[in-house]
Amino acid sequence: MTTVRVEKIRKTYGDFVALEGLTLDMAEGEFVSFLGPSGCGKTTALRIVAGFEFADSGSVLIDGDEIGPVPPNRRNMGMVFQNYSLFPNMTAADNVAFGLRVRKQPAEKVRRRATEMLELVGLSGKEGNFPHQMSGGQQQRVALARALVNMPKALLLDEPLGALDLKLRQVMQLELKRIQREVGITFIFVTHDQEEALTMSDRIAVMTQGRTDQIGTPTEIYHRPATAFVAGFIGTANLLPVTVRGQEGDQVTVDGPGGRYFARAEGRTYQVGSSVTLMVRPERLVPSGAPLHGAAGGSIEATVTSLVFQGPVVRCQVQTAAGVDLVAHLGPEDDPSSLSVGSPVRMTWSIDGAYLVPEALDSGLAGVTQMEDDETGA
Ligand SMILES: Nc1ncnc2c1ncn2[C@@H]1O[C@H](COP(=O)(O)OP(=O)(O)OP(=O)(O)O)[C@@H](O)[C@H]1O
Ligand SMILES: [Mg+2]
Repeated sequence: MTTVRVEKIRKTYGDFVALEGLTLDMAEGEFVSFLGPSGCGKTTALRIVAGFEFADSGSVLIDGDEIGPVPPNRRNMGMVFQNYSLFPNMTAADNVAFGLRVRKQPAEKVRRRATEMLELVGLSGKEGNFPHQMSGGQQQRVALARALVNMPKALLLDEPLGALDLKLRQVMQLELKRIQREVGITFIFVTHDQEEALTMSDRIAVMTQGRTDQIGTPTEIYHRPATAFVAGFIGTANLLPVTVRGQEGDQVTVDGPGGRYFARAEGRTYQVGSSVTLMVRPERLVPSGAPLHGAAGGSIEATVTSLVFQGPVVRCQVQTAAGVDLVAHLGPEDDPSSLSVGSPVRMTWSIDGAYLVPEALDSGLAGVTQMEDDETGA
């Protein structure tokens, strides 16, 4: 079993700083995702771990040993890319067997192992198929089997599901996770798709501009984002700039546009007068009159600007008097029938529906932050 550690990696291309102080510990058998917008340095980080690229400073350690000078083919790392890069003139079995033949393993063992690996990835019976006779998802399974056949110390995956359509991608997400559990190998998975990272990862490293803003479990990242960027990049967040007015035990009182609000301190100590960010997720923001679970956290007067039925939820967008747009996801308990576009509404949330992000909010970022597809690089 293998641990991978990257320590204070800095990488520049000329004047451009691609990675700055990247540090991350991956435990044995852990599924870790590098998540961040296009250009934030995910592929660069992966290529440095693989040995295709060298850091200006910092180190990569495998099981505690620095592997800086070790060439890629001696690191025993598997790699899977978005474009499956299978050998087009070889069958599925021969593609998978390639890595074993290079290592001059006996023919019988090679055949048996290739069959086993294809079975692991759910391709029994397709041994004789050529890549052009297989779907994108099947080709990616072959690529996975080929990368795992030598039982690498870690498997590095760079947006491996990026070329697949949504339905197939969701199937493959669960498949990848199952395979990873079965083989017990550390997976380092690069994606700019936050849902994908939330679905698959034990831990996520959220990257922006060459650094990690936060490393944590999907739950931590979603519910306790370390920065406003993380709050907005993972899911949808309503963010309000607020000023701390006081703290009593676990309860913090803040003032923001449109009123006084309350939030949990979550073990932190807040300086009176400091600027921080109040986050309320859309599923925690409800129109007044709807049941509120727990003590009140705050409320804000607004006008409904749009109501869109989305199946499981009704997406209700409102604008506050200060011109801040907020989004609520109304579930089955919330009755949207009293709401209509243009009608005034008081939006409410419970104290546990709010979270204080411990940094000041750039006033331009107030309101709902939702990444557009082009911002995430999709
Ligand atoms: N060989 C290179 N020469 C110069 N700049 C580079 C080189 N490789 C990467 N970069 C720059 O470094 C930054 C990080 O690139 P990288 O490929 O790691 O991003 P990424 O997070 O994988 O993005 P994407 O989601 O689009 O794949 C980008 O701004 C890119 O233009
Ligand atoms: Mg990339």
